[in-house]
Amino acid sequence: MPRFEPHPERRPAVVSGASSGIGAATATALATAGHPVALGARRVGTCEELAATIRAGGGEAFAHRLDVADADSVKEFAAAAADALGPIEVVVSGAGELAAARVHDLDSETFLAQLQVLLVGAHRLVSHLVPDMVRRRRGDVVFVSSDVVRSPRTRMGAYVAAKNGVEGMARALQMELEGTGVRASIVRPGPTATGMGMDWDAQTTGEVLEEWVRWGHARHPYFLRPSDVAAAVTAVVSTPRGAHLSLVEVQPEAPLEEAR
Ligand SMILES: NC(=O)c1ccc[n+]([C@@H]2O[C@H](COP(=O)([O-])OP(=O)(O)OC[C@H]3O[C@@H](n4cnc5c(N)ncnc54)[C@H](OP(=O)(O)O)[C@@H]3O)[C@@H](O)[C@H]2O)c1
Repeated sequence: MPRFEPHPERRPAVVSGASSGIGAATATALATAGHPVALGARRVGTCEELAATIRAGGGEAFAHRLDVADADSVKEFAAAAADALGPIEVVVSGAGELAAARVHDLDSETFLAQLQVLLVGAHRLVSHLVPDMVRRRRGDVVFVSSDVVRSPRTRMGAYVAAKNGVEGMARALQMELEGTGVRASIVRPGPTATGMGMDWDAQTTGEVLEEWVRWGHARHPYFLRPSDVAAAVTAVVSTPRGAHLSLVEVQPEAPLEEAR
């Protein structure tokens, strides 16, 4: 007799931040793994294009505008996703932004705006989607965090604070969800080649990279691909009931050196 019912065959998933980078790759990977997916971001046209590509490949996908900084938008997105795909079984919180500035140069409005997206935005998804999962006694919630929680980086103090907040919230949630059948998990990527940081000017990018080298961050030149992180998220939600990948850190593998 199994200790848990296996995952149902149909597990609708929502992904925030699905218009780019890790979120887009995760929506694609989940759809390839057989999940119906709801793609949300402010650039809904880009989400719609990706949803059409997924559908053309035989998957099930739905796109809807989502601004995680706006409570009404999250509420509307959550309801639209459930209407389109059925009760949501998997939530991936991937929406994020990053403004490069030193903490003492950052104005508090910008600081707060980043927390609104990265931390409160993740909480908004939880508050609109997790109670139903608890009632159904199953589901997966995945928070895309960052290795800055383990090893902070310069010029991203608001981001570091927000991701520490996300992991703190996720840890408390894991305890509160124990025994409910709902698994909350943290996926903590290292440097990943995405849209993030692409809007920094060349001088800022150069200075930031020099600082990262000085603080021992950039150990080698390889970055993760968004699909690498998506594979980790897919592994977390695909893990059979009875086990829980509660924290997964993903780092880029180093390029091969001369044989030793
Ligand atoms: N890149 C890295 O090195 C790295 C490392 C560790 C963790 N992460 C995390 O990975 C996640 C995805 O980032 P990424 O690297 O893939 O960057 P990205 O390519 O810039 O994607 C960010 C996504 O977040 C969405 N987003 C931003 N603000 C939003 C809002 N208010 N409401 C809804 N969606 C919003 C963007 O969509 P719209 O602009 O269309 O709204 C976009 O789809 C973030 O949580 C980030 O912190 C990234």
